[in-house]
Amino acid sequence: MLLKSPPPLSLLTLERETHGGPISSSASTCNALKNSCGLSALRSTSRRNTGGRFAIRASKEANSWAIMDVMFDPFEEVKKELLLVPTMPQASLARQKFSNQSEAAINEQINVEYNVSYVYHAMYAYFDRDNVALKGLAKFFKESSIEERQHAEQFMEYQNKRGGKVKLQSMLMPVSDFEHIEKGDALYAMELTLSLEKLTNEKLLNLHTVATQNNDVQLVDFVESEFLVEQVEAIKKISEYVAQLRRVGKGHGVWDFDQMLLNNA
Ligand SMILES: [Fe+2]
Repeated sequence: MLLKSPPPLSLLTLERETHGGPISSSASTCNALKNSCGLSALRSTSRRNTGGRFAIRASKEANSWAIMDVMFDPFEEVKKELLLVPTMPQASLARQKFSNQSEAAINEQINVEYNVSYVYHAMYAYFDRDNVALKGLAKFFKESSIEERQHAEQFMEYQNKRGGKVKLQSMLMPVSDFEHIEKGDALYAMELTLSLEKLTNEKLLNLHTVATQNNDVQLVDFVESEFLVEQVEAIKKISEYVAQLRRVGKGHGVWDFDQMLLNNA
């Protein structure tokens, strides 16, 4: 492999902005920069006193300056943050740029996920009854219930990660029976599932809006990367199940559909 040194800079000047002339460490720093950047010429000089900060300037021409300035002084700039570190034991140490609105919206979403999980659990119990015995649907709703519960836990972990407090809220008692004279139980339950997935999507988008309004880029990223794509895929899958159940009617076709779910990996 042929390695070429980068050509762009012919001159770099490193200033140690202290009063009284060049400092001895400038040359070694310059050499280090020269080695790492492939610069062809380096020189050091002194300039005005700006509190001991370094200014690095590089250019193509010997007499042209200021492409890049490095003026970061961590010990100076961290002072402001240091004053904000909480001393009360009840206060989170990790919390940073995390609004009360975002915290409340996450708790609301935890409740949504738990409620949906609870309804799916009720559906699992219904389809697992001895006089219903649609084992594929029972398996599907049990797995769906666990998945929604996992979503709730993901939001709980994130809440703690950001320094918020998880506050669990009440859940509504779901219905226990899913018979429907016209649609049959399988189609009725699946249509209900589709509505719940769309409702969950709406709630996720509300959470995304709260995060955006509060300039919480990290919460926006979390919702987008962990939930929004998956939610759209879930809505597509359940829509297909509803369409298939509408085709097969309430009789033997439901048995075949149930077997398909049962044998799904
Ligand atoms: Fe979910």
